[in-house]
Amino acid sequence: MSERAIPRVRLGVNVDHVATIRQQRGTLYPDPVLAAGAAIGAGADQITIHLREDRRHIQDRDLVIMRQVVEVPLNLEMAATSEMVEIARRIRPDIVTLVPEKRVERTTEGGLDVAGQLTLMARVVAQLRDAGIAVSMFVDPEAVQLRASLEAGATIVELHTGDYADSTLASDRIRHLDELRLAAQQAHDLGLVVAAGHGLDYHNTRAIAALPHVEELNIGHSIVARALFVGMAEAVGEMRRLIGEVS
Ligand code: PXP
Repeated sequence: MSERAIPRVRLGVNVDHVATIRQQRGTLYPDPVLAAGAAIGAGADQITIHLREDRRHIQDRDLVIMRQVVEVPLNLEMAATSEMVEIARRIRPDIVTLVPEKRVERTTEGGLDVAGQLTLMARVVAQLRDAGIAVSMFVDPEAVQLRASLEAGATIVELHTGDYADSTLASDRIRHLDELRLAAQQAHDLGLVVAAGHGLDYHNTRAIAALPHVEELNIGHSIVARALFVGMAEAVGEMRRLIGEVS
């Protein structure tokens, strides 16, 4: 095996949509905690969950149990509200990723406007870091948001790949990929750890995993959807392998 100067890209598996299926019927199954265990067994480097204000999928109880049983870093996506900050400070995930949240959206739409609410963001980051939690900002690939994330005290940025993933025209896809490449470089130059995610699937992930300085990907919907056909371990393994081919 050849030695790698650059560590491989980490895969964070988001298990929210296992909970979506459960909440649809109010049953006890399928359990996102068991999904997390299967994902870790298949090579997930991190488990990511989003505790939404409306609790549409992940519940507070899931977060508590995951904190107790997940042996890889636990990344909690949440809105920058006082309720969520209180929960995070009490449960202490390893990482909090601050995301924008609207009740009517189907999924997270766009990155967080850190630059437009710098005072609030700096306060929330300080409260989280004070509890020993690393903070990541989920932002669009724009220099102004990267600089603001650093200024607010975050050490990680997760670049929003949704526009890239949703592109139907090849020209748009290439343009968005170029924006992500530039943003990854800029974030790295600022000393930030660079993650990326949203809308990544078995077709569009390679190009993102291959971008210089991208160290982590957070992927949920496509993996859980694939797991319906091949099982969670195989779905995670396939994603892990295709990321490994390019990073
Ligand atoms: N990263 C962030 C910050 C997100 O909000 C989400 C969706 O919860 C994801 C990654 C995963 O996105 P997807 O489910 O489209 O893979």
